[in-house]
Amino acid sequence: MNELMLKLRNLKVIFPAGEGIISAVEGIDLDILKGECVALVGESGCGKSVTSLAIMKLLNTPPALIRVDELKLDDEELKDYSDGKMQELRGKTLSMIFQDAMTALNPVMTIGKQIDEIYLRHNKMSRSEARRLTVRALELVGVPEAKSRANSFPHQLSGGMRQRVLIAMAFACMPKLIIADEPTTALDVTIQAQVLNVLSDMQKKHKVSLLLITHDLSVVANMADTVYVMYSGKIVEKASKRDLFTRPHHPYTEGLLGSVPRLSDEHHHFIQIPDSVPHPMFKPKGCYFHPRCRYATKECSEKMPPLEKIDHQREVRCFHPLNLGGKK
Ligand SMILES: Nc1ncnc2c1ncn2[C@@H]1O[C@H](COP(=O)(O)OP(=O)(O)OP(=O)(O)O)[C@@H](O)[C@H]1O
Ligand SMILES: [Mg+2]
Repeated sequence: MNELMLKLRNLKVIFPAGEGIISAVEGIDLDILKGECVALVGESGCGKSVTSLAIMKLLNTPPALIRVDELKLDDEELKDYSDGKMQELRGKTLSMIFQDAMTALNPVMTIGKQIDEIYLRHNKMSRSEARRLTVRALELVGVPEAKSRANSFPHQLSGGMRQRVLIAMAFACMPKLIIADEPTTALDVTIQAQVLNVLSDMQKKHKVSLLLITHDLSVVANMADTVYVMYSGKIVEKASKRDLFTRPHHPYTEGLLGSVPRLSDEHHHFIQIPDSVPHPMFKPKGCYFHPRCRYATKECSEKMPPLEKIDHQREVRCFHPLNLGGKK
């Protein structure tokens, strides 16, 4: 049996920009097992959203130019699917939770009606049966007084409640894969934790595969099984969450971890990554991270390191990987 829910191979996305091009995603591979939560982490502009939109086939072409060798969901090849066929899949087999619930929801329709529509679109049932399921879905994500709240419009709910509504919508038809792009960054820290708990509980309970996109490693610490670290359109490290947090191999990952406050860290020794991500039209020669890397050598400024397998779960793109302890 194939345990892979998503198999993405060699995804490339470019955008024309005036005289030049923006190379947003440069040939990434991504595997998500059935029931697994995979996190895609990296700073702003590294290509996380473009990757997720490409998987959902929601990028407008043009302007985007997309190339992909394989885009398989549960062994079904989607890369040549028409818009109509993709529309059928979205919401039913594949769904997405966006960062901004206010734009993801229809402002002039009650939230109950919006969830009812999902059930009605994908199943043969009566309106009252759909509403019964809607109320249950709202209860499951912790919306209090779900029956009456179903009659609220989006603006009548708090940000945290709206995000719960999006989670209820994403799970409504029990999709095979859910992509959550920064699902809680617009919320206060305490509300963020509550909403992430709801998402994590739902994912585990229903054994759905989840691609969690975030720039915040503390979100990953609580939820992900496997983590992919992305930098400037490329994957620079892949590891199980545990390995990544205890022994990061890529200097960029080390830097990202340095900016996560750890309770166990008595000395509060922060490693900071200087400067910022290169502009996508002016990426440096060699390893894209080398101008910011404290371990960089001449080789790093000349050649792009390949993504190398360290063991069956770990990959790193670096000429001088850290914490290898005799491996490699
Ligand atoms: N429609 C577009 N036209 C041109 N360039 C685009 C377009 N959409 C995205 N890009 C560029 O592609 C790159 C990757 O963008 P993307 O939105 O995927 O970043 P991200 O990692 O999701 O960042 P953030 O954390 O800020 O959401 C950026 O340089 C962005 O400017
Ligand atoms: Mg984004």
